[in-house]
Amino acid sequence: MARHSFISRSRIVALVALLAIGAVVQSCDSRGTDEVGPYETFSPNTQVSYPMLQHFALSSCMGCHSNFSDPNVIAGLIDPSNPDDSTLLQKVEDGEMPKGGPPLSENQIAMIRAYISQQQEIKIEPTWSSLKIVLINRSCITCHSQGAVKPKKPYMDTYEEVANNGVADDMAEKMQLGKMPPKGHAPPSSEILKAFIDWDMAGAPQN
Ligand code: HEC
Ligand code: HEC
Repeated sequence: MARHSFISRSRIVALVALLAIGAVVQSCDSRGTDEVGPYETFSPNTQVSYPMLQHFALSSCMGCHSNFSDPNVIAGLIDPSNPDDSTLLQKVEDGEMPKGGPPLSENQIAMIRAYISQQQEIKIEPTWSSLKIVLINRSCITCHSQGAVKPKKPYMDTYEEVANNGVADDMAEKMQLGKMPPKGHAPPSSEILKAFIDWDMAGAPQN
């Protein structure tokens, strides 16, 4: 898959084929987090990862707000228990941001809203589906993703990348030693770290 692209070639081919036969393209919410298509087809039930948000909804902000590449900066601008109270959402809804540029589309705003509300719903559990969001998407993926501004291996976009080749063991070790995430990036809470270690010790199941 090419860097900076979340849409695999096969999906583009499939999409073109669907359009060709005049089918209605439905939302992508039954697909995996990393396979979500362009925001034109965004459905509020789709899980929004941080790279998705950055790529599809916040790309026009980066020229002025380069610190938006850090999910912790965004975390300070949102209130998951009340998305409408979030500065991030208010600024784009009232058209104040992006400053001097065209307003965001309805779908981009819907993606921001979905991202905000999803930040509270995730229980911390020793499962892949929980850890992908509470640990990897929040603390690691800004660097360890093929879609990152400066992609760093090991990539952690998919279950296979994390579960195979001892990557999960390496992740647990680096976090326990306090070496990852690097200095200046907020480490995961001890509760999240414990859940990850429990999951890794259980053989890193796809649960
Ligand atoms: C041309 C530069 C520019 C662009 C592009 C831009 N902003 Fe801003 N933004 C600013 C400036 C300057 C401020 C601070 C002064 C102000 O509020 O006008 C600001 C302030 C903000 C704040 C308030 C920050 C706080 O701490 O209260 C938010 C939230 C914000 N911008 C979101 C966005 C989003 C989201 C986008 C993209 C959709 C975006 N901005 C695009 C220049 C920009
Ligand atoms: C700000 C960017 C950044 C973030 C965030 C980040 N890493 Fe890294 N990571 C790096 C860089 C750069 C390297 C390669 C250089 C090094 O090992 O220090 C690396 C290397 C690694 C390695 C491989 C080390 C090896 O020996 O090959 C692992 C495992 C790792 N990171 C785990 C994590 C985990 C787990 C998280 C989230 C909790 C995380 N990283 C967050 C930048 C980052």
